[in-house]
Amino acid sequence: MPELEGKRVFVTGSGAGIGKAIATLFTQRGARVVVSDINADAAKQTADEIGAVGVANCDVTDEAQVQAAVQQAVDLLGGLDVLVNNAGIEVSSPLLQQSTESFDKIYAVNVRGPFVAMKAAISHLIESKGNVVNIASIAGIGGSPLLGSYCATKAALIQMTRVAAVEMRPTGVRVNAVCPGFADTAMVERLVPDFEAATQVPFGDLVAMKQGRLGTPEDIAEVAAFLASDRASWVTGSHYVLDGGLTASLV
Ligand SMILES: NC(=O)c1ccc[n+]([C@@H]2O[C@H](COP(=O)([O-])OP(=O)(O)OC[C@H]3O[C@@H](n4cnc5c(N)ncnc54)[C@H](O)[C@@H]3O)[C@@H](O)[C@H]2O)c1
Repeated sequence: MPELEGKRVFVTGSGAGIGKAIATLFTQRGARVVVSDINADAAKQTADEIGAVGVANCDVTDEAQVQAAVQQAVDLLGGLDVLVNNAGIEVSSPLLQQSTESFDKIYAVNVRGPFVAMKAAISHLIESKGNVVNIASIAGIGGSPLLGSYCATKAALIQMTRVAAVEMRPTGVRVNAVCPGFADTAMVERLVPDFEAATQVPFGDLVAMKQGRLGTPEDIAEVAAFLASDRASWVTGSHYVLDGGLTASLV
């Protein structure tokens, strides 16, 4: 039987990049997926390409939109087994030069977004004994120049994952996080010029030295699929690192 047969899944930010790869792989593994993004055209395209059950768009910074989208997904799917909090943004700036407005914005997307989505979904997940997969980052584990606020948001997401997992354990709901290194998406493309300017090292060389190769969105979808599946039934409160060894190395 496919790994995710019949699982009812809602993925935020699944119009592109890692979210799209998750929606695609989960569908291939038997899940019924509702796609969601702030970009309605991208969400529709993903849904059409993969044969999703439907689309329920939201901007994750808007709690009312998130509540409505989760309810729409539940209506389309007849319940909910898996919430994937994937939507996220980056800001490239030296930390103490970043505007407070921009700091608030990245928190609103990367921390408050998963928070309100978990709150909106939890009663449905308790009913199904489902689970949450939060897409965090190795930036939540180590610090990186230019990514100060992003690092802080991803550390916060790992901590919310841990606490939600412990608090939800009696209900049977599992909550886990995935922490990828650099992966081949538009987000990383946007970061490359600033990284090269700051480090004076070609980004390709940095990636080859630190993590062997660039991750693919599919690498991340594979780990998310495992965590979402019943094979991970004793896994909760964890953050799974996939980074080609970057965080393991001192050199
Ligand atoms: N690419 C990487 O190297 C990498 C590494 C570690 C973690 N991540 C995390 O993976 C997740 C996906 O990143 P990606 O690289 O695919 O990014 P991406 O920019 O390629 O795609 C992000 C998607 O999220 C959507 N989105 C942005 N703001 C939104 C909002 N407010 N509400 C709803 N949707 C919104 C975008 O429209 C887009 O479709 C993010 O949480 C990111 O922090 C990425």
